[in-house]
Parts: sequence; structure tokens; C-alpha cells
Amino acid sequence: MNPPGFSSPGRASRYDQFSKAEYLRLTRKPNRKMPSQLDLLGGRERTHLCGDLRPSHAGQDVFLAGWVDRRRDLGNLVFLDLRDHRGVTQVVCNKETSPGSHLKAERVRPEYVVAVRGKVVLRSNDTVNKQLATGEVEVHSEELLVLNEAKTPPFPVSEETRTAEETRLRYRFLDLRRGRMQQNLRLRHEAAQTVREVMTRKGFVEIETPFLTRSTPEGARDFLVPSRTAPGNFYALPQSPQIFKQLLMISGFDRYFQIVRCFRDEDMRADRQPEFTQIDIEMAFPQRDLLFSLIEDLMEALFGLIGEKIARPFPRLTHAEAIEKYGSDKPHLGYALEWRTVSLPDAEQDKIRLQPPLKALRIPGGARVSRSQLDRWQDLARANSISWFSYLKANEGGTDSPLKKALGESICREMRVAAGAEPGDLVLLLGRSADAASVPSQSQLDIASGELRNEVINKLELKQSGKWNFAWVTDFPMFEYNEQDRRFTAVHHPFTSPREEDLEQLESHPAAVKAQAYDLVLNGSEIGGGSIRIHRRDIQIRVFQMLGFTDEQARERFGFFLEALEYGTPPHGGIALGFDRIVTLMAGESSIRDLIAFPKTASGMDLMCRAPAEVDASQLDELGLSVRKK
Ligand code: AMO
Repeated sequence: MNPPGFSSPGRASRYDQFSKAEYLRLTRKPNRKMPSQLDLLGGRERTHLCGDLRPSHAGQDVFLAGWVDRRRDLGNLVFLDLRDHRGVTQVVCNKETSPGSHLKAERVRPEYVVAVRGKVVLRSNDTVNKQLATGEVEVHSEELLVLNEAKTPPFPVSEETRTAEETRLRYRFLDLRRGRMQQNLRLRHEAAQTVREVMTRKGFVEIETPFLTRSTPEGARDFLVPSRTAPGNFYALPQSPQIFKQLLMISGFDRYFQIVRCFRDEDMRADRQPEFTQIDIEMAFPQRDLLFSLIEDLMEALFGLIGEKIARPFPRLTHAEAIEKYGSDKPHLGYALEWRTVSLPDAEQDKIRLQPPLKALRIPGGARVSRSQLDRWQDLARANSISWFSYLKANEGGTDSPLKKALGESICREMRVAAGAEPGDLVLLLGRSADAASVPSQSQLDIASGELRNEVINKLELKQSGKWNFAWVTDFPMFEYNEQDRRFTAVHHPFTSPREEDLEQLESHPAAVKAQAYDLVLNGSEIGGGSIRIHRRDIQIRVFQMLGFTDEQARERFGFFLEALEYGTPPHGGIALGFDRIVTLMAGESSIRDLIAFPKTASGMDLMCRAPAEVDASQLDELGLSVRKK
């Protein structure tokens, strides 16, 4: 995956000739002697890129251009590392053979833009640089053109130093010049090309949908755009093209896809951006298995780009299983740790003031975990509203547990067997205290179990099995009850179809209704979500009613869609994949921002353009708006 000129993925310094101190000295020194006169490129074209030259080019006359990556002055010889997006070539400016080049080379500084005409020469064995793809040759300058100067950059471009992210984002144009970001964005480009190629081959048509539209509910706040021509009215930027892709199925396009920007005004996390890109997919007459296999084909092609073979078919687990075993609807399946439910006789439960169920997590070899570590895990459980925490350690003779006093060895041993523990293992126990002022809900217990599992994995630095752990999570609940608003909301979105067998209890037992919804998870990250849709108007209306829309509200917001459903809507379904998240994982980065050319900060700011920003009073006037200062 490395561009030819780059030796390693650009994480470490790529050059061996310069010490860091020397580089800093060179970049910091103000260049007072710089001639203000710059050379012109004229009509000259580059013969090669800076990563291209090999021993087979020796003897050729070449013309290269790029940025000065580093400069080393040895008196009569000045060495310039010339960089472009393909790599680096060493240029030698010799005072005796090319005094003009030498004079200019003495004056250039890192990030100056220069061009060089010269001859490719083989390096002697002792000066070959094995770190560089071009390291067996150098170019002896016959003419050096200084095309542009550069201020001293706020961080070295030529190497990966730890630089505060704010500085990187403020000077994004320089940050993107660095090898690692070049590779990331080129990988992103290749991934987009692959998506288009695979989807087109499979009969999908790429169709653009509007950005200036009405709000589509996906659970976040909308970004609004005021209308000038209809004062007081607003467009919403789409949270996803959900309704449009469904309309395209009604229009008979059969298979649609789009690599599309979506906009959501929600709280930011490392894997979220207010504008992000989806690979949006929809198909008519869908069969879930067909869709899954199509997405697995797509993933195989994408990961093939980085030389990875992924295991197929991806494991499938229901939402209920995921929550029970992993305490998460996006479980990382690379770790074998699984929660089990352990049952105790009522009398024993009472002794330890426990309200069932009791969840047990076996940690192989965990018996060596210290008391203070166990205390910290207990604190984490408490922070997640779960105050009943205990453990047992399995040893050759039996068990060691704070519960032993109340329950005795034989019950502890039964719990140990139920948890599947072997001598040397630790079993963490989590439950709901019968003494709590308000007994935590099952879902609070599940969330705490998921958090604890993640923390155990991190703290014990457990080894991940398999590099790419994909999973389909299916059968999500259709609704969740929002205590605050005292109403049901859609777990996925309001266009998701309930399972056919659950239709009857839509109104009578909404909490028990499962949706035909699925998520795609990779290494604990949700990289996609989709569903089979409602294609019948009567069912869509029932779901809107369950979500608390009055007929009038439903007609007002979704009238056009309800109408479209009346004109021959085929069964249809699809998915949207989080493109930024997928390429972030492919690149081995931890922040989605490293795969987006111009991302926003955690507080939604563009530090380079300084957006959002105030606008002129005249612009507000035109839009019929006034701003109330807070
Ligand atoms: P959903 O809301 O699950 O589904 O989004 C699909 C995928 O998009 C990615 N994603 C994000 N990535 C970065 N930043 C964000 N703020 C962000 N929000 C979501 C996730 C997620 O899995 N219309 C439906 C899809 C469908 O039903 O077909 C939808 O948008 O990887």
C-alpha cells in the first residue's frame, strides 16, 4: 500500500541522514539571505516523480520538482531531499560542477518549492539508503529553480512528530502534506473506487439525492438552512438519504447505491463527525441473506486493498444474544470473554441481597488480578449504577471469594462450574442489589457488563484473536421507551419493518416487537446499519402512530411518502455503511479525523476556516432572520 517512494507506512522518520535536532535547527533559523527573486517553471514538465528513480535510470537526464524535505550543507556539497506525493529523491548540488545550483541550494529551506534538472547517478555502496525506495541513486543537479519560498512550518512536515491536533487542524494544508495523511487519503480514494466498481458490477446504479431537503428522522438533530425565497422556512440537511432511496425503489431502479455525505448535529466522539460519508445501498425484493452476502463481497474487496483476507461468512448473533453475552450491541468478537447468567436458589440470593439475574464473566488465568484492580472494576460498575459486584477465584482446592462466608464453599463451587472456570481463572459477578434505593433496570445491568468487559480487555491487555472480527447483529427491538418523553421511539428508524410474526402485537406489546433490522460490526465498531423496510402504507401509518405522530403530523411531515407508498411499492430493504469508519479501521488509525481531509473538532469547529462564524447583518436581513445573543 505504500506509495513507491515511501519505505514504511510513514509512522517513523524516513530518513537517516539528519538528526532531529539538526532538522529543527534548519527549520527554525530565519532565512534572512533569501533572494526575493523566484524562478519560473516556464513550459517545463517533470520527467519523473520523486519516488520513481531506480538504478535502471542511471545516466538519464531528468527534471524533477517538489518540496524541500530536508537540506544538509557539507560546504562544497549541499544535499536536498526533494519530496512529492510519490516519495523522496536525494539531489546533490556541487559547488564545483554546478555553482549556480549550489548557491541557490545554500539558501533554500524545508518546504520551499524547487525544481531540478540533472543526471541520475548510482550511489556508492556505502551511501546507499535502504530506507528509501530511491535510495540507490541520486540526482546531480545541473540547474536548480527556486519556485517558491515557505515560512517555517509550525511542525515538521518531513517526519511524524507528536503535534497537537488543534495545530494540525489549524494548518491542515500542511498536515495533509505529510506522508501518513497522504497515504490515508489515497487509501480512502482507492476504497471509494472499489465501492463504485463492485457495486456497479453487481447492477447497482449511483444516484445523487438532494442536500437541501426536509428532515429525515435518524435520531439526531438536523442542521437547518434558512430559505431566502421563502422567509421563515428552512431546508434540513439530510441525516441520511433514507426516504429518497426508498422512493427510488418505488420508482423501479431496483438497485441503488451512493457514496453520500450525511449531516447530523449530535454529540461528537472519536468515531463521529457532524458531516460524514455513507455507502448507502437499497434494493427491491431483497432477501436478507442476499444483502448480507453482497456486503460481505464488498468488504472482501475493500480489505483486499490492504492485502487482508477476511473470514466469511461473518458470524451472526441476535441483538438479545449480543446484549446477554457481551453487554453491547456492537460486541468485539475478537475476545472470547462472554457473560453467562448464573442462577442461585432464592434463599441463597436473599443471603447476599441479590436481585436476579446474576451475570458471570470468566477471565481465563485472571486469578492473579490484584485486589486494587478488582476495587477499580467495582468502582466502574458503581459508576454505571450497578452496586452489586463480587468475584470468585478458582484454585486447585476450590474457590476463593468474599461470598464464601455467606454462601459456603459448595454454592461457590456451583457458581464456578456454572461460569465454566478452571483453576487459575477469575470470575467477575455483577448483579442488581435488592437493597438499592431504586433497583437498577436490566438494561443498566447489561450496559455495566459491557463496560466492564471492555475495561477488562484493556486493562489486562488481552490478545485479540483474528485481526478482523466482523459480526452481523440482527433482530433489534423495534421500539424503545423513552422515560423522559413517556413515549416509544424507533430503535433504528420509523421506516424499518417489524418482523412479520410480530405485526399482531405492534400495539398490544410494542416492547416485544422485533424489527427486521441489522447492524454490521467490525472489531467492536458499528460500521453499518440497515433494515428491511415497511412497504405497506397501512403498516407505516400504524408505526407512525406507535411513535406518537398524530395523523395530521404524519401527513404534514411524510405526506408525500405515504402517498408514494400507495402507488405500487415493492418490498425493499438496504443498509448504509459508515465509509469514514471503515477506512479508519483499514488504515489502522484510531480517529476518524485522520481519514477525512478537512474534519471538524470535537466541538464541531473547523479551525482552519473558522467555521461556524457570524454572518453579515445584510445576509441575515435577506433571510429575514435576526440573532438573539445568548
Ligand atoms: P445509521 O444511522 O445506522 O443508518 O447510519 C449508518 C452508519 O453510518 C455511520 N455513522 C456515522 N459515521 C460517522 N459519524 C457519524 N456521526 C455517524 N453516524 C452514523 C455508522 C452507521 O452504522 N438510513 C440508515 C441506513 C439504512 O437503514 O439503510 C442510517 O443512516 O457506521
